[in-house]
Amino acid sequence: MTENPRDYLAVAMDVPDLQSACALADALEGAAGWLKVGAELFTAEGPAAIEMARTHAKVFLDIKLHDIPNTVASAVAAATHHGVAMLTVHAAGGIAMLRAAREAAESAAAKTGRARPKLVAVTVLTSFAPDDLKMLGVAESLPEHVARFVDLAQRAGLDGVVASPWEAAAIRAQAGQDFFLVTPGVRRAVDAVGDQTRIATPEVALAAGSSLLVVGRPIVQAPHPAQTAREFVLEIGKALEAK
Ligand code: C5P
Repeated sequence: MTENPRDYLAVAMDVPDLQSACALADALEGAAGWLKVGAELFTAEGPAAIEMARTHAKVFLDIKLHDIPNTVASAVAAATHHGVAMLTVHAAGGIAMLRAAREAAESAAAKTGRARPKLVAVTVLTSFAPDDLKMLGVAESLPEHVARFVDLAQRAGLDGVVASPWEAAAIRAQAGQDFFLVTPGVRRAVDAVGDQTRIATPEVALAAGSSLLVVGRPIVQAPHPAQTAREFVLEIGKALEAK
């Protein structure tokens, strides 16, 4: 694992079009190791958003694939062709879908000569509160449900999972040191919470074992995104030193 603090920060480019994404990526140049292209930007602009982001940082394509194994495999292969460094699939898609994703990433990487992207499984969205699971008919507790998805992701040979910082310590203990743990829902004390419910500061998320912090609105909607990103990286650096 690298110890450059900015490699622990993925900025979620949750903006509506390529022009705004370009302006944001230009402003953030060198401030964050990862840029996340999510559902909003990818739906609006498609692979052009990935191409643009790749000229600035490692690209995390977060379109949370969840479909039949064949369809997910084809989408993962396409993303691999576009040179993304990491992408998300939903653990709830089941073991056959997760295995198909992993195999597709491997064979597409071998065919194109590109590096295989990391595959991380979304466990329970960080916007979920414990009662939201009950409304879906899930009887087990939120930590139990996350642990089940972590086990599924490991058995399918995925690189890691996306989870709230609240579950990070338990996941790290369950899955070991090499498992890649992506945590959205990261806020400093001064930031607005938005619709996230299971949030933590960079310091708490890293101490709990996070490999990568995803931060969107606190940076993207800040008056000076690059300055705010650098403040996050400073906090990350301090937290890594304290570990
Ligand atoms: O603006 P904010 O910092 O809340 O953005 C968090 C980002 O992380 C969003 O792009 C969201 O789609 C993503 N995400 C999440 N929870 C997950 C997986 C991804 O919030 N479980």
